[in-house]
Amino acid sequence: MIEKKFPDGFYWGAATAAYQVEGGIDNTDWAQAANEERVPTCGIACDHYNRYEEDFMLAKELGHTAHRFSVEWARIEPEEGTFDQAAILHYRAVLKSLHAQGLKPYITIWHFTLPQWFANSGGFERKDSPKIFAKYAAFVVAELGDLCGHFSTMNEPNVYGSNGWLRGSWPPFKRFSLTDVVSITNSGRQYEAKASRGIAPLFLYFRVMRHLAESHNAAYCAIKKLSPATDVSIVKHVIVFAANGTIFNQLKAKIANYFWTYKFMNRVARYCDSIGLNYYFYTQFGDTRSWRKTDMDWNFAPEHIYEALMMLARYRKPLFVSEGGLADASDTGRAEYIKRQVTGVWQAIQNGADVRGHMYWSLLDNYEWALGFAKRFGLIHVDYETQKRTVRPSAYVYKKICEENKVVE
Ligand code: BGC
Repeated sequence: MIEKKFPDGFYWGAATAAYQVEGGIDNTDWAQAANEERVPTCGIACDHYNRYEEDFMLAKELGHTAHRFSVEWARIEPEEGTFDQAAILHYRAVLKSLHAQGLKPYITIWHFTLPQWFANSGGFERKDSPKIFAKYAAFVVAELGDLCGHFSTMNEPNVYGSNGWLRGSWPPFKRFSLTDVVSITNSGRQYEAKASRGIAPLFLYFRVMRHLAESHNAAYCAIKKLSPATDVSIVKHVIVFAANGTIFNQLKAKIANYFWTYKFMNRVARYCDSIGLNYYFYTQFGDTRSWRKTDMDWNFAPEHIYEALMMLARYRKPLFVSEGGLADASDTGRAEYIKRQVTGVWQAIQNGADVRGHMYWSLLDNYEWALGFAKRFGLIHVDYETQKRTVRPSAYVYKKICEENKVVE
């Protein structure tokens, strides 16, 4: 039996995002897309907007010491330049509730959904989007910063950009395609026929990615100006591209890692106090193994979070695992997945990565974007008819890890 201890004060918890759990948000690009029947309707989701106290009590009972969540831009700035104090009061109450349960908050300022006014006027294609975003981000920190020490400006810019402008499966549904043949399989498949196609989305994609980096950097500067002690990060989705065998495959992996991870990180790393890692994918060029799969049909490869952390460790900043988890409705693989993932994190720490926390995705089952409510990532099962919460057995395995601050193999 080997005990793998984590550093004192390590953050243990789970993550959620506003649109996926809160319910009742009807002024975003996703709500508009649902009205147009391009994505599933989100409705009241987990009604977390009203049930957050109950949910945080459960998180505390499950041994968590931290919690990552996002605030909804469309609630806070429902019209351009108009900020809603009622929304701020709500999130202040959420933060107070977290503190009352002894959970350290970790806020994401923007997690995928845009206010309609911003989306309909061009969103991150807009030249002035960095300015608009920085203003919103600074407002959030000015209003909530006394109750929270960690703010991530944005969640997974590369996922956002590629789904919106390359695949065309998420708003604004622009698809880079030279042909009219639909041959991809992805989460937005049932809707992609409605995406606008052509070569223009590719150019727009590069523009959006540039604007996202500039938005993060501008937000970082604006926040640091008003609150120098606040820890400001970006949440980066890392795919571990590895290679088997040939130099050609190794070259492919290098190029893929550059385009998916390093290119964006190189633009923003100077403007990060820490970095959040979202890890789900390990893929090997030249791989001939047949992988066990999660309910998302993703490779069951939790321990490779190790490589993802080592990829980010080169930026020499504190790291937080801001997401990592699996869809597993039967809960038969989750406990093993978590243990192997946490072991990978431990390994990275042994190898010099300064990892400060681990937040499983997700605390609750929730709205899985273009897949609606079909996929279940939660430590806690949600019955969407009754809103009843039921803790899954795997959550107790994670609880032991959190409470003992170690994983035992
Ligand atoms: C996103 C979450 C999403 C999860 C599972 C991450 O890419 O940040 O919003 O639900 O992956 O697909």
